[in-house]
Amino acid sequence: MILNKEEKDMLNGKYGYAVQKSMEILVAIGEIYEAKRMVPIVSAQIAGVSYDNLGDAGIEFLEEISKDAKVRVITTLNPAGMDLEDWKKLGISDDFAEKQLKIIKIFSNIGVIPTCTCTPYFVGNTSHFGQHVAWSESSAVIYGNSVIGLYTNREGGPSALAAAITGRTPYYGYHLDENRQAKVKIIVEADIKNDVDFGILGKIIGQKIKDKVCYITGIKEASVDKLKIFGASLATYGGASLFHIEGITPNKTDIPKDEIVVSQDEIFREKELMSDVGDVDFISLGCPHASLEEVATIASLLKNKKVKKELWICTSRSVYEISKRAGYVRAIEDSGAKFAVDSCMVVAPIKGRFKAMATNSAKAAYYAKSKNNFKVLYKPLEECIKLAIE
Ligand code: F3S
Repeated sequence: MILNKEEKDMLNGKYGYAVQKSMEILVAIGEIYEAKRMVPIVSAQIAGVSYDNLGDAGIEFLEEISKDAKVRVITTLNPAGMDLEDWKKLGISDDFAEKQLKIIKIFSNIGVIPTCTCTPYFVGNTSHFGQHVAWSESSAVIYGNSVIGLYTNREGGPSALAAAITGRTPYYGYHLDENRQAKVKIIVEADIKNDVDFGILGKIIGQKIKDKVCYITGIKEASVDKLKIFGASLATYGGASLFHIEGITPNKTDIPKDEIVVSQDEIFREKELMSDVGDVDFISLGCPHASLEEVATIASLLKNKKVKKELWICTSRSVYEISKRAGYVRAIEDSGAKFAVDSCMVVAPIKGRFKAMATNSAKAAYYAKSKNNFKVLYKPLEECIKLAIE
């Protein structure tokens, strides 16, 4: 790789231990992927924050690299394993909380903003079309690349941290225009309307094309929340980090010759397959983290109602605080439903606590089964709420 003078100095230790180690990590990755150089970034987003995922080895790594570190660009965090202010509400033990808070403190000390959300684009980690960033949460990466027009690879937690500390990332993959061109055209011959339709479509396309970039036709309208749910599903079931939707997303692409049709029958069939249980004891919404608009909808559905099952709404601290001011939090909490702020149903240590989970997110459905061994009922948001209050 060709490094400029400042990057060489970083590698040679002129800027201290953390910068040197970070540059070593980035050069090693760059050489694996045959990057010719580094590219400056304007922001970073770090996943792998929950103590449930990091464990003590992860804390050791963070302690080591953070000794003399400071991030050079705006850097935010993915969800933690608990609500950082009210973990007892979600049944999290004090032992777990102690470790989790230690992790957050290490990040905060080096200048990382503990937003603890997978939707950094809602809470101040904002960049404009065409800017290079280093994000690691898969649902944020695909949203950033596809909907905002950012340029980012899907970083691992350590490489995103290294990018934050040095302010650059190796110039390969989705940082290069030639890798952002669609390789397959998806013709949707189905009515894609609600959150579940978009999640199912993401799953079907992901399973068909894996991590290829696709150009999708046949979608008439898609809100920010539906694009968020669609991208999360596409990334989960196939591994893609970029999609184009005709007339909706902003990136330019050549139109590929290879075509795949998704029919209405496939959507119906896959919906049937997704749900394997009718009797749920846990309902979880907000994967990726709920937006203000989703919280408003949930509040209107729960107003003056009481929930009879455990219901979590996973969201960021920022959305929660604004929702409080708007009166949504009172309507939701008065019903008995709980906010899982800073956290989510996947990264919180809840294995064994529930048997069957209802959700409107195809990504949450995947991890509820694979990580937590829950059975899953996959329904639109309105039906999930109905299940909670019945
Ligand atoms: Fe976010 Fe957790 Fe879903 S990190 S994307 S709410 S699995």
